[in-house]
Amino acid sequence: MVIKVNSEHIRKSISWDLYQDKVNAIHHMIEEKTGPGSDFLGWLNHAKEYLKSDELPRILKAGKTIRENYDVLVVCGIGGSYLGARAAIEALKGVLPHKDLEILWLGETFDPTYIAQALAYLKDKKFAINVISKSGTTTETALSFRLLRELLEKRDGKEAARKAIFATTDGEKGALRTLSLNEGYEMFVLPSDIGGRYSVQTAVGLLPMSAMGIDIIKLLEGSKDAAEEYKNPSLKENAAYQYAVLRHDLYQDGKKVELFVTYLPTLVQLTEWWKQLFGESEGKEGKSLFPASATFTTDLHSLGQFIQEGSPIFFETILHLQKPEADTIIPEDKENLDGLNYLAGKPLSFVQQKAFEGVLSAHSENGTTPNIVIEMERMDDYHLGYLFYFFEKACAMSAYLNGVNPFNQPGVEIYKKNMFHLLGKPGY
Ligand code: PA5
Repeated sequence: MVIKVNSEHIRKSISWDLYQDKVNAIHHMIEEKTGPGSDFLGWLNHAKEYLKSDELPRILKAGKTIRENYDVLVVCGIGGSYLGARAAIEALKGVLPHKDLEILWLGETFDPTYIAQALAYLKDKKFAINVISKSGTTTETALSFRLLRELLEKRDGKEAARKAIFATTDGEKGALRTLSLNEGYEMFVLPSDIGGRYSVQTAVGLLPMSAMGIDIIKLLEGSKDAAEEYKNPSLKENAAYQYAVLRHDLYQDGKKVELFVTYLPTLVQLTEWWKQLFGESEGKEGKSLFPASATFTTDLHSLGQFIQEGSPIFFETILHLQKPEADTIIPEDKENLDGLNYLAGKPLSFVQQKAFEGVLSAHSENGTTPNIVIEMERMDDYHLGYLFYFFEKACAMSAYLNGVNPFNQPGVEIYKKNMFHLLGKPGY
């Protein structure tokens, strides 16, 4: 088991047997693609298929071209069209400036100041663009892309711009597909049967990851192995389903919020990806847990008081990694004015681990908050691929347990219609 779900700290005991029949029924509905939204189950076995696809070598080649020929990669996308790539790059490559290739995120905001600052910054940089949009008509992304394209074409000419633009979009239809075909941009496909929030293991996530030097083959192997493991519906063995059942059970008990906690600042964007996955998949028909997140111990100095003693509307899900990717030994200091010599000679990971244990008992034993702990050995390319799939499979199970379609997002369109009407878009 690469990922284990520890339910010791949820303050109640749950019998898997009570849920097994329901889980079996939903499992078969997912695997046989017979449930609501089943046209969007392309992600189920995608990694295995993609490892053999013709597109994978093209992605690796494009990633290398970008890394070797440009100073900055601008990823232009929003929601499911950028959160996964950003989560992976920060989780695996960190949040400090990247030496080989800088990455800039655009297309996820209308903020005129940020966009103007980004364009001014890029003016004298050698940059490539990966525009990612399944529909090609998402306004935030399309507007930023228009501005970026204009900047490149005016500065470097059409031919150089054409070489620097990589498009990821639907394989069959859409405005970005048409534009890319007309302009001759290299194109990668987001399959029609995979929705944005389940697309991180497709070209949507893989091209930016590959450009940033992530081993996308290992990441896909992680997802492929997870797909294999989670084909077993037994709740005693399937950690993804255990997680789905635990959070569902806590929701049934009246919890309204799930606070997803990590201890790594490099995982803030993973929590953003997780929030979209669960929020957009489950938050419908007046139901479901609100997905929130926190980074410990940082946020214990801001939210800690509320978590310990505030209104008991939530439970915590903690991602606990057993091994850091790097560590530092705490030095001895002669003066010891900071009083830290009792830790001298110990690694920072020891302090992190004791903080985790102390917080866990403070919240679950002394406090009122049930804690689910998701245990994983480490955060590398393979494990992250595994983790992405773990959450995707858990989310599908969890949404179906809750009686909602995990793969649509009808509520997202309402603000767009109002905005288009106010902007004077033809037809609105
Ligand atoms: O998960 C989703 O479906 C959404 O978050 C979309 O990815 C997002 O709205 C962007 O859509 P598009 O890729 O069509 O530009």
